[in-house]
Parts: sequence; structure tokens; C-alpha cells
Amino acid sequence: MSNLIGRQALASLRSWFDRYVDSFMNGDPARDCAIRLKRDHTDRVCREIVGLARSLSLPDDRQVLAETAALFHDVGRFEQFARWGTYLDARSEDHAALGVEVLERHRPLDTLDPAARRLVTSAVRLHNRIEIPAHESDDCKLVTRLVRDADKLDIWDLALRYYCHEPGDWNEAIELELPDVPRISDEVFAGVMDRRMPRMRAVKTLGDFKIIQMGWVFDLNFDLSFELVARRGYLERLRGTLFRSDRVERVFGVVRTFVEERRPGGCRPD
Ligand SMILES: [Fe+2]
Repeated sequence: MSNLIGRQALASLRSWFDRYVDSFMNGDPARDCAIRLKRDHTDRVCREIVGLARSLSLPDDRQVLAETAALFHDVGRFEQFARWGTYLDARSEDHAALGVEVLERHRPLDTLDPAARRLVTSAVRLHNRIEIPAHESDDCKLVTRLVRDADKLDIWDLALRYYCHEPGDWNEAIELELPDVPRISDEVFAGVMDRRMPRMRAVKTLGDFKIIQMGWVFDLNFDLSFELVARRGYLERLRGTLFRSDRVERVFGVVRTFVEERRPGGCRPD
């Protein structure tokens, strides 16, 4: 495929994105804080995706394409908060579908090559799905997987900052108002032990939520993602915010082994 997108195009899209986000700031401290949170998250996801794309030695235009997809992956979040006052999809609407709607309404991608436009739009639409549909093209799968890994890498960081009571950070767990009781539900435990990502519906306690976040490792796609999870100690730190129990230890053992087996130079059992 020919050169899909250049750095100049990305710079213009970044200016559009900054202006778009600014238009949601209205001087109300709570709202502006919520909007800034997603803007800053987007910045960090862009940085994460650049690292991942480089680790794969992708051609320059594919790296720029991946960064563009990261820039827009949560573009639906701003309107979601403005409309509903929440980031919980279950209490409002699917923020990925809303993101596609925003792209179709404001058309910032119109200057791009149609193939690049389709890939970015598909990555936005699919970034939060349980699975990427098998019929999608290899290009689409690659960009979407990059966004999904980069997104998770930052959300782990955000969640851990919240669990460690750093002020000012929003987390889904706050809005879910989950009881902080020392219990892991059967369905969540069974899913993670089976190396599957349990559904959010099964989450009944804050502990379940943290266990699900540990289970995100089953959906990671790239060597560097596993390496960063290990190096940053996300799983150990999540365990450190949980109560001590046999279930927590068993889940921790499974997810840590999963990561160790996949990180470059990790311990791969014969
Ligand atoms: Fe995100």
C-alpha cells in the first residue's frame, strides 16, 4: 500500500483535536477536570502507541497511522460526558460508537487518504469491543490491537494512582460504587483462572474489578506490552491494593505466569 499518512497531516489533526476538546471546557471545575482527564489520557496513549509501533519496526506511515488512531480513540468521551455526565458506557452509551459518530459529524479525517480514514475509524469503533471481528483486514487488526494495548497500559497506571489515593484522578471504580469488601465473585474468579477476560456484568465488588483489570493481560498483543506490564509492576501493584486471600494469590499466579511466558527474555517453561 502506498504512503498512507504523513506527519504533517497528524500535526493538523492534533490541532483539530485540541480545539475540539477545548470547546467542551465551560469553567465548571468538575466538568473541566473530567474533560482534562480524558485529554491527558489521550496524550499518554499516543506516547504508549509510538513506543509499541517502534518496537515492531513498522514503516513510518504505519506508525503515524497508529498514533492518529490513538489520538481519536476516545474522541467520543467528551460528548459522552457533556451529554450524560458520566464515562460509564453502561449508564450512557458506547463511547466508541459515539466517537465514530463525532468523526462522521465533524469530518476531521476528510483530508486523509480514504484507506487511512477507514483504518482510523475502524480502530476507534473496535477499540473497546470484547473481540476484534475475524473478518476485519490485517491492517485494521494491527492498528486496533495497538490502540487496545496502549489504552490498557495507561488505564492500569490511572487505576493504580486512584487506588493509591492520589487526589484528582477519576476512575470507573468510583462511579461504579462497588462495595470494598474482601470477596471475589465465583464468575470473575473462574474466568481469570481459565485465562479469559470475564464480563463487566459479573463484577460485584471492588476486588472483582481489580481482578478483571489483572485479567486484561489475556487481551495484550505485543511483546513490549508484556514487557512493560512486568517492568512497571502493574500486577504486583494491583495485588498490593487487594486483601490477602487464596483466590487473589491464585489469580495473581496465573496472570503473572501468563506475562512472564510472553515477555521477551521472560521465563518460558519448557
Ligand atoms: Fe482510552
